[in-house]
Amino acid sequence: MSLHDVAARALHAFDPEDAHGLAIKGLKLGLGPRDAGPDDPILAVQLAGLSLPNCIGLAAGFDKNAEVPDAMLAAGFGFVEAGTVTPLAQAGNPRPRLFRLTEDQAVINRMGFNNGGLEPFAARLSARKSRGGVVGANIGANKDATDRIQDYVTGLTRLWGLSDYFTANISSPNTPGLRALQTKAALEELLGRLAETRAGLKAQSGQDYPIFLKVAPDLEDGEVEAIVETVVGAGLDAIIVSNTTIARPDSLKSPLAGESGGLSGAPLLEPSTAVLKRFHAAAGGRVALIGAGGVASGADAYAKIRAGAQAVQLYSALVYGGPGLVVRIKRELAARLRADGFAAVQDAVGAA
Ligand code: FNR
Repeated sequence: MSLHDVAARALHAFDPEDAHGLAIKGLKLGLGPRDAGPDDPILAVQLAGLSLPNCIGLAAGFDKNAEVPDAMLAAGFGFVEAGTVTPLAQAGNPRPRLFRLTEDQAVINRMGFNNGGLEPFAARLSARKSRGGVVGANIGANKDATDRIQDYVTGLTRLWGLSDYFTANISSPNTPGLRALQTKAALEELLGRLAETRAGLKAQSGQDYPIFLKVAPDLEDGEVEAIVETVVGAGLDAIIVSNTTIARPDSLKSPLAGESGGLSGAPLLEPSTAVLKRFHAAAGGRVALIGAGGVASGADAYAKIRAGAQAVQLYSALVYGGPGLVVRIKRELAARLRADGFAAVQDAVGAA
């Protein structure tokens, strides 16, 4: 066990949110793990025009304020998604709001988009811009916004040129009513406004950046198809499947399973991969897919890729495995690809 694995376990002596704060502090001080080597070329992917050295990304919510993207790239992630950031700083829900379901290797959170707002986020991205590495910005709406769609437009506009890609997060269960933006009419309006804003920014700056949409795993029949058509119609570049779930599988053993909020980690692997398969079938290659939910091993990442994902993101497994986990996942994934005769991640996409 490495020193970083020991440190990750020691953090479990603390309240989960305090532990997360300590992890961010440590990473800022340069105490995080470092992936020594260049990535195995078999893991490289082209995702919506982005060249990723490997297909394993850090999911949003770990680095809400864009404080440690470079430390997480150094730990071996192929891309890092900072945020969710909202235009104005907001405190989020009262604590406790983050729970470890250790028996289930899961997490429940009802953070409620606690973050420092767009300005400090933009300043940090601006300060690191020359460092390279793919860093995306996950944008959202303030809880009290009178025009939620305008908040996404504001985020996109402020961060244009500072971020390598954008994710519109409409799938947090912890901002009341946010997920209603996934319904057809609301989504058409949101994505229409984003597409229009993007066209204007592109004309002005001469630069274009991909935009992704992040969806919930709790979708009714027909919603998957409607989302895909709206995303394709608006010219967005990828769909991230998925955010946390409001479902509580019967299999949960932890006494904290009844806490309200979004569930993530191991119990989300199977349901989020099943929804990913539905998106893959509906998309038919017209839009890229990124798989998130319960990835903790190379086998889990491989399952997402075979279900149709070009790339993968994870967060909750870090709570149990520590940031050294990503090196392990990459090694296992490369071995699995080779064992099945694939020369590149892309060749295995949708192979299941
Ligand atoms: C999240 N997630 C999340 N997603 C998002 O788009 N914006 C956010 O601010 C957050 N915040 C957040 C906080 C915490 C504590 C957790 C555990 C998760 C969701 C995350 O990005 C991911 O989609 C899910 O957690 C599923 O992946 P894992 O965690 O099972 O690998």
